[in-house]
Amino acid sequence: MTQKVALVTGAARGIGLSATNIFIEEGWKVAMIDRDADELHAAAAGLSEAKPFVCDVSIPEQVDAMIAAVLAQFGRIDALVNNAGVADFGPIEGTTFERWRRIMDTNLDGVFLVSQAATPALKDTKGSIVNIGSISGLRASTLRVAYGTSKAAVIQLTKQQAAELGEYGIRANCVCPGPVKTKLSIAVHSPEIIAAYHDAIPLNRYGTEREIADVICFLCSDKASYVTGQIIASDGGFESTGVGLPALRV
Ligand SMILES: NC(=O)c1ccc[n+]([C@@H]2O[C@H](COP(=O)([O-])OP(=O)(O)OC[C@H]3O[C@@H](n4cnc5c(N)ncnc54)[C@H](O)[C@@H]3O)[C@@H](O)[C@H]2O)c1
Repeated sequence: MTQKVALVTGAARGIGLSATNIFIEEGWKVAMIDRDADELHAAAAGLSEAKPFVCDVSIPEQVDAMIAAVLAQFGRIDALVNNAGVADFGPIEGTTFERWRRIMDTNLDGVFLVSQAATPALKDTKGSIVNIGSISGLRASTLRVAYGTSKAAVIQLTKQQAAELGEYGIRANCVCPGPVKTKLSIAVHSPEIIAAYHDAIPLNRYGTEREIADVICFLCSDKASYVTGQIIASDGGFESTGVGLPALRV
């Protein structure tokens, strides 16, 4: 049987590395993409079914060269996971255009560029795309003017992809994680933010990388063959809760 190939961006650590491990457990090969060369090579060492490709997903020339290199190595792409992301919390007036662009470059432009470059290969396999959004793209909050807007745009981009690429048999879905303790969140979640999240989340805790990655890999699998254009929160119930006033609890 032909081994399927997943391309995972931001695969050097965190949620992307966890998705890489699950794909391998399920018999796939994985093209691991990251711009952090040292961390990527360390993560890929020992994973015989994975190959590292150093690439900044926000730079069109690097993306084109990376897709060509992945196809030269593996010959096909069955699933694309657009997971590479950066976070930066700040008030509207304190968000310089440079900070805004830094977030949009990776979180939005990167998803557009890698998906576009991979589309011919995904047409060949009738493959699927999973984009990583965030609960910050589903609900507005203070300090997330750039991050939240970039993730809301990723949600809409997913729907555009599902609408337009469906006729080629390509599915596109978006996973919106709640808080997970990774390098990305540690940098922006203070102890007060962590406590407030625990309070607002019905399951009363952060998620794990694997709890997010399991949903990603399910959406890439044949078990989700009739699922496209969906935005799925893996967030302990945060998004569905509405008015989560502690005073209303029993
Ligand atoms: N951790 C959370 O609480 C949380 C919550 C909601 C959404 N997310 C989203 O999940 C995704 C993964 O986040 P994580 O928490 O695992 O973060 P992480 O920082 O642990 O991993 C992100 C990886 O992406 C890579 N990367 C960043 N910019 C890149 C670029 N331009 N080109 C190539 N690689 C790049 C980094 O080098 C890193 O290895 C992100 O899209 C993030 O926004 C995370």
